[in-house]
Amino acid sequence: MARYLITGIAGFIGSTLAHALVEQGHEVRGIDNLSTGSLDNLADIRHAISFEQTDLQDVAGMKAACEGVDFVLHQGALASVPRSVKDPLGSHQSNINGTLNLLIAARDAKVRRIVYAASSSAYGDQPTQPKQEDMPPLPLSPYAVQKLTCEYYIQSFYRAYGLEGICLRYFNIFGPHQAADSPYSGVIAQFTYKMMAGDTPTIFGDGLTSRDFNYVDNAVSANLLACAAPSAVATGRVFNIGTGKSQTLNDVYAAIAGELGFREKPKYGPPREGDIRHSLANIERATAELGYRPKVGFHDGLRKTIAWYVAEHEKKAATTIEG
Ligand SMILES: NC(=O)c1ccc[n+]([C@@H]2O[C@H](COP(=O)([O-])OP(=O)(O)OC[C@H]3O[C@@H](n4cnc5c(N)ncnc54)[C@H](O)[C@@H]3O)[C@@H](O)[C@H]2O)c1
Repeated sequence: MARYLITGIAGFIGSTLAHALVEQGHEVRGIDNLSTGSLDNLADIRHAISFEQTDLQDVAGMKAACEGVDFVLHQGALASVPRSVKDPLGSHQSNINGTLNLLIAARDAKVRRIVYAASSSAYGDQPTQPKQEDMPPLPLSPYAVQKLTCEYYIQSFYRAYGLEGICLRYFNIFGPHQAADSPYSGVIAQFTYKMMAGDTPTIFGDGLTSRDFNYVDNAVSANLLACAAPSAVATGRVFNIGTGKSQTLNDVYAAIAGELGFREKPKYGPPREGDIRHSLANIERATAELGYRPKVGFHDGLRKTIAWYVAEHEKKAATTIEG
Protein backbone atom coordinates (compact mmCIF):
# COMPACT_ATOMS: atom_id res chain seq x y z
CA MET A 1 0.00 0.00 0.00
CA ALA A 2 1.31 3.48 -0.89
CA ARG A 3 0.17 7.00 -0.10
CA TYR A 4 -0.95 9.03 -3.11
CA LEU A 5 -1.72 12.71 -3.52
CA ILE A 6 -4.02 13.46 -6.44
CA THR A 7 -4.25 17.11 -7.44
CA GLY A 8 -7.43 18.02 -9.30
CA ILE A 9 -9.06 15.03 -7.58
CA ALA A 10 -12.59 16.37 -8.07
CA GLY A 11 -12.11 16.58 -11.83
CA PHE A 12 -12.80 13.99 -14.50
CA ILE A 13 -9.44 12.17 -14.61
CA GLY A 14 -8.47 12.88 -10.99
CA SER A 15 -11.67 11.34 -9.62
CA THR A 16 -11.35 8.30 -11.88
CA LEU A 17 -7.79 7.79 -10.59
CA ALA A 18 -9.03 8.14 -7.01
CA HIS A 19 -11.63 5.40 -7.52
CA ALA A 20 -9.01 3.04 -8.98
CA LEU A 21 -6.54 3.63 -6.13
CA VAL A 22 -9.18 3.28 -3.39
CA GLU A 23 -10.31 0.02 -4.99
CA GLN A 24 -6.72 -1.24 -4.85
CA GLY A 25 -6.52 -0.41 -1.12
CA HIS A 26 -4.14 2.56 -1.33
CA GLU A 27 -4.25 5.64 0.88
CA VAL A 28 -5.57 8.56 -1.17
CA ARG A 29 -5.32 12.23 -0.37
CA GLY A 30 -6.67 14.84 -2.75
CA ILE A 31 -6.73 18.56 -3.27
CA ASP A 32 -8.87 20.64 -5.61
CA ASN A 33 -10.03 24.24 -5.71
CA LEU A 34 -13.33 23.08 -7.26
CA SER A 35 -13.03 25.62 -10.09
CA THR A 36 -14.13 23.09 -12.71
CA GLY A 37 -14.33 19.88 -10.66
CA SER A 38 -17.16 18.72 -8.42
CA LEU A 39 -17.31 16.75 -5.17
CA ASP A 40 -20.19 14.81 -6.77
CA ASN A 41 -17.47 12.91 -8.65
CA LEU A 42 -16.15 11.63 -5.31
CA ALA A 43 -19.45 11.11 -3.48
CA ASP A 44 -19.21 7.31 -3.25
CA ILE A 45 -15.58 7.28 -2.01
CA ARG A 46 -15.61 10.48 0.04
CA HIS A 47 -15.40 8.43 3.28
CA ALA A 48 -12.33 6.53 1.99
CA ILE A 49 -10.14 9.50 1.02
CA SER A 50 -8.92 12.67 2.66
CA PHE A 51 -9.77 15.86 0.79
CA GLU A 52 -8.83 19.53 1.14
CA GLN A 53 -10.31 22.32 -0.91
CA THR A 54 -7.05 24.12 -1.70
CA ASP A 55 -5.56 25.93 -4.65
CA LEU A 56 -2.32 24.67 -6.20
CA GLN A 57 -0.88 28.13 -5.61
CA ASP A 58 -1.41 27.94 -1.84
CA VAL A 59 2.08 27.49 -0.36
CA ALA A 60 1.02 26.16 3.05
CA GLY A 61 -1.72 24.05 1.43
CA MET A 62 0.69 22.25 -0.91
CA LYS A 63 3.24 21.78 1.88
CA ALA A 64 0.60 20.04 4.02
CA ALA A 65 -0.73 18.05 1.06
CA CYS A 66 2.71 16.62 0.17
CA GLU A 67 3.70 15.65 3.71
CA GLY A 68 4.32 11.88 3.96
CA VAL A 69 3.24 11.20 0.36
CA ASP A 70 4.89 8.55 -1.88
CA PHE A 71 3.44 9.53 -5.26
CA VAL A 72 1.87 12.73 -6.58
CA LEU A 73 -0.49 12.32 -9.53
CA HIS A 74 -0.72 15.90 -10.74
CA GLN A 75 -4.00 16.35 -12.63
CA GLY A 76 -5.03 19.79 -11.34
CA ALA A 77 -5.15 22.46 -14.06
CA LEU A 78 -7.51 24.73 -15.94
CA ALA A 79 -7.73 22.15 -18.69
CA SER A 80 -8.99 24.03 -21.69
CA VAL A 81 -7.60 25.62 -24.85
CA PRO A 82 -10.45 28.13 -25.36
CA ARG A 83 -10.40 29.17 -21.70
CA SER A 84 -6.65 29.89 -21.96
CA VAL A 85 -7.20 31.94 -25.12
CA LYS A 86 -9.84 33.97 -23.29
CA ASP A 87 -7.92 34.33 -20.02
CA PRO A 88 -4.20 33.60 -20.55
CA LEU A 89 -3.10 35.12 -17.25
CA GLY A 90 -5.65 33.24 -15.12
CA SER A 91 -4.77 29.89 -16.69
CA HIS A 92 -1.03 30.68 -16.46
CA GLN A 93 -1.40 31.25 -12.72
CA SER A 94 -3.23 27.98 -12.12
CA ASN A 95 -1.24 25.86 -14.51
CA ILE A 96 2.34 27.14 -14.25
CA ASN A 97 2.54 28.94 -10.90
CA GLY A 98 0.43 26.21 -9.31
CA THR A 99 2.65 23.43 -10.68
CA LEU A 100 5.85 25.18 -9.59
CA ASN A 101 4.46 25.64 -6.09
CA LEU A 102 3.49 21.94 -5.98
CA LEU A 103 6.95 20.87 -7.19
CA ILE A 104 8.68 22.87 -4.47
CA ALA A 105 6.43 21.28 -1.83
CA ALA A 106 6.98 17.79 -3.29
CA ARG A 107 10.74 18.31 -3.33
CA ASP A 108 10.79 19.55 0.28
CA ALA A 109 8.59 16.66 1.45
CA LYS A 110 10.88 14.17 -0.34
CA VAL A 111 8.03 12.70 -2.35
CA ARG A 112 9.21 9.60 -4.25
CA ARG A 113 7.83 10.55 -7.65
CA ILE A 114 5.51 12.96 -9.43
CA VAL A 115 3.48 11.80 -12.42
CA TYR A 116 2.30 14.76 -14.45
CA ALA A 117 -0.77 15.06 -16.69
CA ALA A 118 0.94 16.62 -19.71
CA SER A 119 -0.86 17.29 -22.96
CA SER A 120 -0.61 16.35 -26.63
CA SER A 121 -1.37 20.03 -27.34
CA ALA A 122 2.42 20.52 -26.91
CA TYR A 123 2.85 19.19 -30.47
CA GLY A 124 0.65 21.95 -31.87
CA ASP A 125 0.55 22.01 -35.63
CA GLN A 126 3.48 19.65 -36.12
CA PRO A 127 2.56 18.35 -39.59
CA THR A 128 4.01 14.84 -39.14
CA GLN A 129 1.68 12.06 -37.97
CA PRO A 130 1.76 10.19 -35.71
CA LYS A 131 3.24 12.44 -33.05
CA GLN A 132 6.46 11.18 -31.51
CA GLU A 133 7.93 12.39 -28.23
CA ASP A 134 11.23 13.48 -29.86
CA MET A 135 9.57 15.94 -32.27
CA PRO A 136 10.20 19.58 -31.46
CA PRO A 137 7.09 20.96 -29.76
CA LEU A 138 5.12 23.73 -31.48
CA PRO A 139 2.53 24.82 -28.93
CA LEU A 140 -0.17 27.09 -30.37
CA SER A 141 -2.42 28.13 -27.48
CA PRO A 142 -1.51 29.60 -24.08
CA TYR A 143 -2.77 26.31 -22.57
CA ALA A 144 -0.33 24.28 -24.70
CA VAL A 145 2.56 26.56 -23.68
CA GLN A 146 1.59 26.15 -20.03
CA LYS A 147 1.37 22.35 -20.17
CA LEU A 148 4.72 22.15 -21.98
CA THR A 149 6.40 24.58 -19.57
CA CYS A 150 5.44 22.30 -16.69
CA GLU A 151 7.11 19.34 -18.43
CA TYR A 152 10.30 21.39 -18.47
CA TYR A 153 9.84 22.19 -14.78
CA ILE A 154 9.42 18.47 -14.00
CA GLN A 155 12.64 17.78 -15.92
CA SER A 156 14.53 20.58 -14.19
CA PHE A 157 13.37 19.40 -10.75
CA TYR A 158 14.82 15.98 -11.54
CA ARG A 159 18.13 17.46 -12.70
CA ALA A 160 18.43 20.12 -10.02
CA TYR A 161 17.02 18.27 -7.00
CA GLY A 162 16.68 14.59 -7.97
CA LEU A 163 12.85 14.64 -7.72
CA GLU A 164 11.69 11.72 -9.88
CA GLY A 165 9.11 12.66 -12.49
CA ILE A 166 7.23 11.25 -15.47
CA CYS A 167 5.22 13.31 -17.97
CA LEU A 168 2.26 11.55 -19.54
CA ARG A 169 1.16 13.44 -22.65
CA TYR A 170 -2.53 12.60 -22.71
CA PHE A 171 -4.24 12.73 -26.06
CA ASN A 172 -8.02 13.36 -25.92
CA ILE A 173 -9.27 11.50 -22.87
CA PHE A 174 -12.97 10.76 -22.56
CA GLY A 175 -15.23 8.76 -20.28
CA PRO A 176 -17.78 8.93 -17.46
CA HIS A 177 -17.62 12.01 -15.20
CA GLN A 178 -16.24 14.29 -17.90
CA ALA A 179 -18.08 17.60 -17.45
CA ALA A 180 -20.56 18.01 -20.26
CA ASP A 181 -22.36 21.23 -19.56
CA SER A 182 -19.66 23.85 -20.00
CA PRO A 183 -18.40 25.53 -23.18
CA TYR A 184 -14.95 24.15 -22.30
CA SER A 185 -15.99 20.49 -22.09
CA GLY A 186 -14.52 17.73 -24.20
CA VAL A 187 -16.22 17.17 -27.50
CA ILE A 188 -17.60 13.68 -26.72
CA ALA A 189 -19.16 14.89 -23.48
CA GLN A 190 -20.66 17.91 -25.22
CA PHE A 191 -22.08 16.08 -28.23
CA THR A 192 -23.64 13.39 -26.03
CA TYR A 193 -25.16 15.89 -23.64
CA LYS A 194 -26.63 17.98 -26.46
CA MET A 195 -28.07 15.04 -28.37
CA MET A 196 -29.67 13.68 -25.18
CA ALA A 197 -31.34 17.07 -24.73
CA GLY A 198 -32.61 16.91 -28.34
CA ASP A 199 -30.27 19.73 -29.50
CA THR A 200 -28.06 19.45 -32.57
CA PRO A 201 -24.37 19.83 -31.69
CA THR A 202 -22.18 22.20 -33.69
CA ILE A 203 -18.96 20.88 -35.20
CA PHE A 204 -16.33 23.62 -35.35
CA GLY A 205 -14.62 23.44 -38.76
CA ASP A 206 -15.43 20.96 -41.54
CA GLY A 207 -15.63 17.88 -39.30
CA LEU A 208 -12.43 16.39 -40.73
CA THR A 209 -10.42 17.55 -37.73
CA SER A 210 -9.20 14.36 -36.08
CA ARG A 211 -8.11 13.31 -32.62
CA ASP A 212 -6.72 10.23 -30.89
CA PHE A 213 -9.61 9.68 -28.45
CA ASN A 214 -8.54 7.57 -25.49
CA TYR A 215 -10.86 6.06 -22.86
CA VAL A 216 -10.08 7.25 -19.32
CA ASP A 217 -9.28 3.77 -17.92
CA ASN A 218 -6.29 3.66 -20.27
CA ALA A 219 -5.00 6.94 -18.78
CA VAL A 220 -5.50 5.51 -15.28
CA SER A 221 -3.44 2.45 -16.16
CA ALA A 222 -0.70 4.71 -17.59
CA ASN A 223 -0.49 6.56 -14.25
CA LEU A 224 -0.23 3.31 -12.27
CA LEU A 225 2.46 2.00 -14.62
CA ALA A 226 4.35 5.30 -14.32
CA CYS A 227 4.41 4.93 -10.53
CA ALA A 228 5.74 1.38 -10.83
CA ALA A 229 8.34 2.10 -13.53
CA PRO A 230 12.04 1.86 -12.63
CA SER A 231 13.83 5.04 -11.50
CA ALA A 232 15.83 5.12 -14.75
CA VAL A 233 12.56 6.01 -16.55
CA ALA A 234 11.51 8.66 -14.04
CA THR A 235 13.98 11.35 -15.08
CA GLY A 236 11.32 13.69 -16.41
CA ARG A 237 10.80 11.59 -19.53
CA VAL A 238 7.77 12.24 -21.71
CA PHE A 239 5.36 9.52 -22.90
CA ASN A 240 2.47 9.75 -25.33
CA ILE A 241 -0.70 8.32 -23.82
CA GLY A 242 -3.10 7.71 -26.70
CA THR A 243 -4.35 4.73 -28.66
CA GLY A 244 -2.43 5.04 -31.93
CA LYS A 245 -5.74 5.43 -33.84
CA SER A 246 -7.71 8.56 -34.65
CA GLN A 247 -11.33 9.52 -35.37
CA THR A 248 -12.63 12.60 -37.18
CA LEU A 249 -15.23 14.79 -35.51
CA ASN A 250 -17.69 13.62 -38.18
CA ASP A 251 -16.96 9.98 -37.12
CA VAL A 252 -17.47 10.87 -33.47
CA TYR A 253 -20.75 12.64 -34.23
CA ALA A 254 -22.00 9.65 -36.23
CA ALA A 255 -20.97 7.13 -33.55
CA ILE A 256 -22.71 9.03 -30.74
CA ALA A 257 -25.79 9.70 -32.86
CA GLY A 258 -25.92 5.98 -33.70
CA GLU A 259 -25.75 4.97 -30.01
CA LEU A 260 -28.44 7.48 -29.02
CA GLY A 261 -30.67 7.05 -32.09
CA PHE A 262 -30.27 10.78 -32.89
CA ARG A 263 -31.18 11.54 -36.51
CA GLU A 264 -30.31 15.21 -37.10
CA LYS A 265 -27.34 16.14 -39.31
CA PRO A 266 -24.60 18.18 -37.55
CA LYS A 267 -24.44 21.98 -37.70
CA TYR A 268 -21.05 23.37 -38.74
CA GLY A 269 -19.39 26.51 -37.32
CA PRO A 270 -16.07 28.33 -37.80
CA PRO A 271 -12.91 26.54 -36.58
CA ARG A 272 -11.92 27.42 -32.99
CA GLU A 273 -8.92 29.66 -32.26
CA GLY A 274 -5.82 27.76 -31.15
CA ASP A 275 -7.25 24.37 -32.18
CA ILE A 276 -4.98 21.95 -34.02
CA ARG A 277 -6.06 20.05 -37.12
CA HIS A 278 -4.93 16.46 -36.56
CA SER A 279 -3.61 14.64 -33.56
CA LEU A 280 -2.52 11.01 -33.46
CA ALA A 281 -0.17 9.37 -30.96
CA ASN A 282 2.73 7.05 -31.56
CA ILE A 283 2.63 5.00 -28.34
CA GLU A 284 5.70 2.83 -28.88
CA ARG A 285 7.77 4.52 -26.19
CA ALA A 286 5.08 4.12 -23.52
CA THR A 287 4.57 0.50 -24.57
CA ALA A 288 8.29 -0.33 -24.47
CA GLU A 289 9.27 1.57 -21.32
CA LEU A 290 6.11 1.60 -19.19
CA GLY A 291 4.35 -1.52 -20.49
CA TYR A 292 1.36 0.68 -21.48
CA ARG A 293 -1.32 -0.85 -23.68
CA PRO A 294 -4.69 0.85 -24.28
CA LYS A 295 -7.03 -1.98 -23.27
CA VAL A 296 -10.32 -0.22 -23.94
CA GLY A 297 -10.89 0.73 -27.59
CA PHE A 298 -12.79 3.79 -28.87
CA HIS A 299 -16.18 2.15 -29.52
CA ASP A 300 -16.24 0.15 -26.27
CA GLY A 301 -15.22 3.26 -24.35
CA LEU A 302 -17.86 5.32 -26.11
CA ARG A 303 -20.60 2.81 -25.23
CA LYS A 304 -19.59 2.84 -21.54
CA THR A 305 -19.44 6.65 -21.56
CA ILE A 306 -22.83 7.12 -23.19
CA ALA A 307 -24.40 4.55 -20.84
CA TRP A 308 -23.10 6.61 -17.92
CA TYR A 309 -24.46 9.91 -19.31
CA VAL A 310 -27.83 8.33 -19.99
CA ALA A 311 -27.99 6.90 -16.43
CA GLU A 312 -27.04 10.30 -14.96
CA HIS A 313 -29.66 12.02 -17.11
CA GLU A 314 -32.33 9.58 -15.91
CA LYS A 315 -31.26 10.00 -12.27
CA LYS A 316 -31.57 13.79 -12.60
CA ALA A 317 -34.95 13.51 -14.31
CA ALA A 318 -36.20 11.20 -11.52
CA THR A 319 -34.97 13.63 -8.82
CA THR A 320 -36.71 16.53 -10.56
CA ILE A 321 -39.99 14.60 -10.71
CA GLU A 322 -39.73 13.53 -7.04
CA GLY A 323 -38.69 17.06 -5.93
N1 LIG B 1 -9.14 15.48 -20.60
C1 LIG B 1 -8.22 15.47 -21.56
O1 LIG B 1 -8.47 15.08 -22.70
C2 LIG B 1 -6.80 15.93 -21.28
C3 LIG B 1 -5.86 15.93 -22.32
C4 LIG B 1 -4.57 16.35 -22.05
C5 LIG B 1 -4.22 16.73 -20.77
N2 LIG B 1 -5.14 16.75 -19.80
C6 LIG B 1 -4.74 17.18 -18.45
O2 LIG B 1 -5.24 16.26 -17.51
C7 LIG B 1 -5.54 16.91 -16.29
C8 LIG B 1 -6.96 16.57 -15.83
O3 LIG B 1 -7.88 17.02 -16.83
P1 LIG B 1 -9.45 16.74 -16.74
O4 LIG B 1 -9.92 16.48 -18.10
O5 LIG B 1 -9.73 15.77 -15.65
O6 LIG B 1 -9.97 18.19 -16.34
P2 LIG B 1 -10.96 18.64 -15.16
O7 LIG B 1 -11.24 20.09 -15.40
O8 LIG B 1 -12.11 17.71 -15.06
O9 LIG B 1 -10.05 18.45 -13.89
C9 LIG B 1 -9.10 19.40 -13.47
C10 LIG B 1 -9.31 19.63 -11.98
O10 LIG B 1 -8.33 20.56 -11.51
C11 LIG B 1 -8.95 21.47 -10.61
N3 LIG B 1 -8.17 22.70 -10.62
C12 LIG B 1 -8.02 23.60 -11.64
N4 LIG B 1 -7.20 24.61 -11.26
C13 LIG B 1 -6.81 24.32 -9.99
C14 LIG B 1 -5.99 25.00 -9.05
N5 LIG B 1 -5.39 26.15 -9.36
N6 LIG B 1 -5.84 24.47 -7.83
C15 LIG B 1 -6.46 23.30 -7.49
N7 LIG B 1 -7.26 22.61 -8.34
C16 LIG B 1 -7.43 23.13 -9.57
C17 LIG B 1 -10.36 21.66 -11.17
O11 LIG B 1 -11.28 22.13 -10.21
C18 LIG B 1 -10.67 20.24 -11.64
O12 LIG B 1 -11.30 19.48 -10.63
C19 LIG B 1 -5.30 18.39 -16.53
O13 LIG B 1 -4.02 18.72 -16.05
C20 LIG B 1 -5.31 18.51 -18.05
O14 LIG B 1 -4.52 19.59 -18.50
C21 LIG B 1 -6.43 16.36 -20.00
